[in-house]
Amino acid sequence: MACKRGALIVLEGVDKAGKTTQSKKLLQALQQGGRAVEVLRFPDRTTTIGQLISAYLEKKSELEDHTVHLLFSANRWELVPLMKKKLEQGTTLIVDRYAFSGAAFTSAKPGFSLDWCKKTDEGLPKPDLVMFLQLSPAEAALRGQFGEERYETNVFQRAVQQKFEQLIKDPSVNWQVIDASKSVEDVHKDIKTHSINAINIAQNLPLGELWK
Ligand code: ADP
Ligand code: TYD
Repeated sequence: MACKRGALIVLEGVDKAGKTTQSKKLLQALQQGGRAVEVLRFPDRTTTIGQLISAYLEKKSELEDHTVHLLFSANRWELVPLMKKKLEQGTTLIVDRYAFSGAAFTSAKPGFSLDWCKKTDEGLPKPDLVMFLQLSPAEAALRGQFGEERYETNVFQRAVQQKFEQLIKDPSVNWQVIDASKSVEDVHKDIKTHSINAINIAQNLPLGELWK
């Protein structure tokens, strides 16, 4: 019998919502449960394309806005063969940011439609579950100052939040909104429950194509 595929689980949300903290905790919990699981994050700054993105985010280089959008998207596409292989082998992937960040961040810039921003990621492996870690700008501010990277300002993050709110209305994606203002442990419990459910459902279903 063919091996059951792994699930593609995505964590999204504005900066400081807790995506990285929760990706690590979910990885540990699923590993302790004996499951094959790995974490990926986008942008993946280790590739050649990722290094261009990283320099841009660190404000060490300037890139035209369409160009950087395409690079973020290309950075996901270059990982697709590896992602598909792992999922087919039965490994569940926890992904810290995905195409939804791509669409939300670029469309928060003047002159970009959400539709145009989604186009470049159309057909990517479709997540079985996308958890949106919901946190108000005021609560995010309590988690410390923004860093020095591009996009790390209150005004821009509020614009991004509004774009995420539009994306969440899309019923073709399995969105779950998570109250990220709760304690790390309580948020983790919610995320773990949704994830185990998604893993159990995904194992008997083919992998879908995003936004198609
Ligand atoms: P993100 O990856 O979404 O930017 P992080 O996981 O890096 O967020 O968390 C941002 C900051 O908030 C870190 O200092 C982290 O320790 C803290 N943090 C994460 N989750 C919570 C929580 N539920 N309650 C309070 N602080 C949190
Ligand atoms: P990340 O490395 O996850 O940093 P952080 O830990 O601060 O969340 O993401 C870097 C930035 O890149 C973040 O501000 C979100 C943005 N971004 C895009 O603009 N487009 C994308 O496609 C992705 C994945 C991220």
